[in-house]
Amino acid sequence: MFSLAGRTALVTGAGQGVGRGIAKVLAAQGARVAVNDVDAARAESTVKELEATGATALAAPFDVTDPAAVRAALERIALQLGPVDILVNNAGIPAGSRGMSKKFIDSDPEDWAALIDINLYGAMHCIRAALPGMVQRGWGRVIQISSGASQRGLNIGVSSYGASKSGIEGLIRHVAVENARTGVTANSIALGLMNNQKNPAATAHIAAGIPMGRLGEPEEAGALCAYLASDESAYVTGQTIHLNGGSITT
Ligand SMILES: NC(=O)c1ccc[n+]([C@@H]2O[C@H](COP(=O)([O-])OP(=O)(O)OC[C@H]3O[C@@H](n4cnc5c(N)ncnc54)[C@H](O)[C@@H]3O)[C@@H](O)[C@H]2O)c1
Repeated sequence: MFSLAGRTALVTGAGQGVGRGIAKVLAAQGARVAVNDVDAARAESTVKELEATGATALAAPFDVTDPAAVRAALERIALQLGPVDILVNNAGIPAGSRGMSKKFIDSDPEDWAALIDINLYGAMHCIRAALPGMVQRGWGRVIQISSGASQRGLNIGVSSYGASKSGIEGLIRHVAVENARTGVTANSIALGLMNNQKNPAATAHIAAGIPMGRLGEPEEAGALCAYLASDESAYVTGQTIHLNGGSITT
């Protein structure tokens, strides 16, 4: 079950963290994987890790907020790996992320822009570029990586980030219903706190507040992506699925 053999996947922001874990799992399930990151060296390093397992992978460095770069990359991926069947919009935290630590009352419009750009426009550019081919071929999977901050108010300075994630979840629901008879599904995964190894010292403290007492692993997000990317998930569309160790229950 859940074989992705013969499929081509594009995972954005897959040079590290959650995206890297997703790319690894999709490759292990047999997909050819285009590894995107705005940082080319990071994309290459994920590709090397995938290739070491015998997988077929391609570095696809581009900025998801640049529509011309997105279109050009999708064309190159189609030529080198095959047209994108599975799109995982994972890039969602811009470099610097000034809007990620301030309460809204203290924020400036320029803090908001980078988050809206990557989480709304970046994801929309990738979907807009990949969707027509999926519809034409009668099969496709759009998987949006979101966050529990889309649905829950938090007092940790993530208001603009949460708004951008709420917005893209809304778009995904419409894309799902507009294309429900085409063989293309679209779903969001709302992540809780994940172990991206950026701040191991803080991990134990953060983990204590999670019902399961630990952070999520990138490969656990990858496993849910593998299911949503598979033939077996064909009847699941327009949903936001939570992956969070019990932090938010619905
Ligand atoms: N880490 C968490 O605890 C957590 C929690 C909830 C949701 N998420 C979501 O998971 C996703 C991945 O998070 P992460 O913690 O692994 O992030 P990360 O910052 O560790 O990695 C993101 C990668 O995206 C790349 N990137 C940034 N801007 C880009 C752009 N414009 N175009 C292409 N690539 C770009 C970065 O270079 C980086 O390699 C994001 O959508 C994030 O919102 C993460």
